[in-house]
Amino acid sequence: PTAPTASTAVLGFDSIAGSKIDAVAVPAGYSAYVLAPWGTPLNSKASAWKSDGSNTAEDQANSVGMHHDGMHFFPLNDAGDDGLLCINHEYIDQNALHPAGPTADAEGKRTVIDEIRKEINAHGVSVVRIKLNNGMWEVVANDAHNRRFTGASVMDIAGPMAYTSYLETRYSPDGSQARGTLNNCGNGSTPWGTYLTCEENWPGYFVNKGTLAADQSRIGIGTKGTRYGWDHLAGDDDERLDEFARFDITPVGANAGQDYRNEANGHGYIVEIDPYNPNSRAVKRTALGRFRHEGCTFGKLAEGQPITFYSGHDSRFEYLYKFVSDAVWDPADANSSNRIAMGDKYMNAGTLYVAKFNEDGVGEWLPLTLDATTTDGSTLASTFDSQAAIILNTAGAADLVGATPMDRPEWAAVDPFTGSVYLTLTNNTKRKDSTNPANPRLNNSFGHVIRWDEGESASEFSWDIFVFGAPAAGDAETNLSGLDDLNQFASPDGLAFDARGILWVQTDNGADEVTSYTNDQMLAVVPSTLVDADGKQQVISTETQAQLKRFFVGPNDCEVTGFAITPDYKTAFVNIQHPGNWPYSSTATEVTPAGMQVRPRAATVMIRKNDGSEIGV
Ligand code: FEO
Ligand code: CA
Ligand code: CA
Ligand code: CA
Repeated sequence: PTAPTASTAVLGFDSIAGSKIDAVAVPAGYSAYVLAPWGTPLNSKASAWKSDGSNTAEDQANSVGMHHDGMHFFPLNDAGDDGLLCINHEYIDQNALHPAGPTADAEGKRTVIDEIRKEINAHGVSVVRIKLNNGMWEVVANDAHNRRFTGASVMDIAGPMAYTSYLETRYSPDGSQARGTLNNCGNGSTPWGTYLTCEENWPGYFVNKGTLAADQSRIGIGTKGTRYGWDHLAGDDDERLDEFARFDITPVGANAGQDYRNEANGHGYIVEIDPYNPNSRAVKRTALGRFRHEGCTFGKLAEGQPITFYSGHDSRFEYLYKFVSDAVWDPADANSSNRIAMGDKYMNAGTLYVAKFNEDGVGEWLPLTLDATTTDGSTLASTFDSQAAIILNTAGAADLVGATPMDRPEWAAVDPFTGSVYLTLTNNTKRKDSTNPANPRLNNSFGHVIRWDEGESASEFSWDIFVFGAPAAGDAETNLSGLDDLNQFASPDGLAFDARGILWVQTDNGADEVTSYTNDQMLAVVPSTLVDADGKQQVISTETQAQLKRFFVGPNDCEVTGFAITPDYKTAFVNIQHPGNWPYSSTATEVTPAGMQVRPRAATVMIRKNDGSEIGV
């Protein structure tokens, strides 16, 4: 029998209205509960979360981090009631993290070491054992799998950058390791059961007060200061601690061993974590490029064929990339117990490409290799002397080959039936005078979702635009997909398919026309069932728009991001990032330094159907 080319899933809920309250909204017959908010202890080294911000750095190193983002569920049994949730913690709110915001002297220099350590420890990834008990998922405190990866955790470097001079640091003189993962936004997983966490807006954590190198200038390392002032400690420079001084990458000595010039070179990667092995180290997979990685999604698998990973660079006018493995997929590897070795097999050697979207729905994947042709007719070898040099400045190499500047590529998701790849382009209000076919709107404040199918060779693809974000009240020029009150959205960001072929679209909203109607949300659609009489896949239009349904709305001021689902489809997990006054709804009169009524907590939300059956259908 031939495999079905379309999902049989039919969305079984009515699209819900927009919502603007300090609570989540779900369809009739569903319930949602908070799970694993920021500060939830993972083991007995952590004190319980305190509403006055007084938890220590040590507490934070042993508790769930802040500002939840990408996420994946790894089952521990076939019953679907026991597993590991891996959760990204993208960034922090310093005002909510400390009793009275960050403590600093009159010059703005940080004075409390433990506060900085707490901030670093609130970043990264949480691995959390959860179990289903009477219809409610609960965190299993003190489980051996529970662990934190933070902005200070030691990680291995693999792929073209490993053991190169670019990564030689005081900490790792042979260039084999780096400390910490930062600004972990979107995520991915692998066919062999590991988690991928993506380093997005890491450049702002470093400063070079001297002259920027070409790669530093291209990626946007600052020359004035760092995002949270971790490098900026009160006291003499030589009293500064190595753990913080490393964020100031200004070359000061005669050679790399005397300063921190290479510290930032250890950031900007896809990081692989084996959640099943609590003794494993995380590995930075440098072959997949170095930029502001939003997410990392593997393409439809085929035995004996390479594995493809897609990753967007989320910044205005940045690019879409794919990595194609040299090794070909062996389904037996899905059952390997040495998962990091599988990562070594499939993610260290291969070809990195960047996307060029041409007219008429055709596109080209341009290789980023030394012999790749540049737009001026030479090759990348005239600018770069090694693959590592290309990786270090991936975006600079992509400039030279003529990649298409996009409206902020965020998450990608792959339809399990058709293999089509979907990518959110969240918005780009700085697109003032030059559109291209894949990014056709000037001042793109609503964003869109683009889609492509791989072609016969690794360098060809065909594409179309699946849906345009828009306010329902927009005219035909604005509301290009014919959305109405029940599915208007803007700034698509999180994106995931479940194995039933349902596409879940999450928003990180910036457009007043939509935020005046609803908070950030999650919509659902089954794209493979939208076909015309010839079997051709359709886009969202006035004819098909009712198939795009709003499933979930978040509380005030939050972003809805991260999607995970259990193998029995009975629980979905989404993350609520930077809520305003939720879910800590104590009646205490505490007012935080930022003027929030209470100290808000990012959290995972579990969504279940009241009758316990599959969600979504
Ligand atoms: Fe962290 Fe691109 O969203
Ligand atoms: Ca995002
Ligand atoms: Ca975003
Ligand atoms: Ca965010």
